Amino acid sequence: MKYILAIETSCDETSVALIDLDGNILNEITKTQIDLHKIYGGVVPEIASRSHLLEIKEILNNFLPIIDKNQLVAIAATGGPGLIGALMVGVMVAKGMAIMLNIPFIAVNHLRGHALSPKIEYKNFDYPFLSLLISGGHCQILAAKSFNDYQILGKTIDDSAGEAFDKVAKMLGFEYPGGLHIQETAKNGDHLKYKFKIPMDDGVNPDFSFSGLKTAVLKEIQKIDCLTDQNKSDIAASFQYTVARAIEKKLEIAIKKYNNLLLNNANKLGCCGGVAANIQIRQMLTSLCKKHSFDLFIPSIKYCTDNASMIAVAALEAYNNEIFSELNFEPLSKWNI
Ligand SMILES: Nc1ncnc2c1ncn2[C@@H]1O[C@H](COP(=O)(O)OP(=O)(O)OP(=O)(O)O)[C@@H](O)[C@H]1O
Ligand SMILES: [Mg+2]
Repeated sequence: MKYILAIETSCDETSVALIDLDGNILNEITKTQIDLHKIYGGVVPEIASRSHLLEIKEILNNFLPIIDKNQLVAIAATGGPGLIGALMVGVMVAKGMAIMLNIPFIAVNHLRGHALSPKIEYKNFDYPFLSLLISGGHCQILAAKSFNDYQILGKTIDDSAGEAFDKVAKMLGFEYPGGLHIQETAKNGDHLKYKFKIPMDDGVNPDFSFSGLKTAVLKEIQKIDCLTDQNKSDIAASFQYTVARAIEKKLEIAIKKYNNLLLNNANKLGCCGGVAANIQIRQMLTSLCKKHSFDLFIPSIKYCTDNASMIAVAALEAYNNEIFSELNFEPLSKWNI
């Protein structure tokens, strides 16, 4: 049996996964740093890098008993986009192992990892597909036509969906990261209580914008003298509903574009990134796909946020296409998919 070892350290999760050449994930260990960062209200890059340095050694030690080094064919690490100091930890460890074992090093694009994350659980998820990437740092709709042909159909012109969730959660007094808090508190709220406008809703533009929505939420909060739990739930429910509707409307436009590009014969939607964990958004995607006869490929919640299994899947794709990285590869804070 041959394996690829993959490392993810782009932000605040230290994660290592082992994949065989048939695409089966044999093990993944992920350690989140959320507790270290939440008192600061967001990720502190220096703390993230130092924590990756400590955790990566521990995690790799757990892998040693299950790895026969002779069976490793490549070592992969997220090469970007992400926090540069954090990326450097995973990249340097991966390069060191690749040199020691005399096998190729693969620098993986983190966004490519998210886009391919449905493949961790669905073996039949393959090109071409439409991809909705809604994470902490990105918000994009892509036509993934083949391994080397990804076309951006729509993207955010300001905040990502995850940032919008985190900022609104902060306004309501919740800890970072805020997405899950919004989802939970919204369960007791009336989603029609506040009529927030869907940003850039002209029916033709597939690009997103969330900063105006964030300001609209802030203005409503400022009108309330003393914010009760019920107010918070109503605001969270109305905000979450508006984000889900905005994504739905933008996807409707993108689906038309995508169908024109691919002659209606590739009706697959992959959805990925931390915001894809949101239950209301998952429900909306299920009915949208039913309406358009698209198959929906959406990972389990644990594979929506950062994990090394998705990096392993992307590394395997690179390996199969013989795309290897030079040992002088430098991590990239920005890197288009
Ligand atoms: N249930 C949920 N509902 C809404 N948002 C959620 C939920 N769970 C997590 N999130 C949001 O997902 C985001 C984190 O996602 P992810 O880990 O994919 O982002 P990231 O890796 O930091 O960003 P990127 O991959 O773009 O660099 C956070 O903004 C968080 O609030
Ligand atoms: Mg990510």
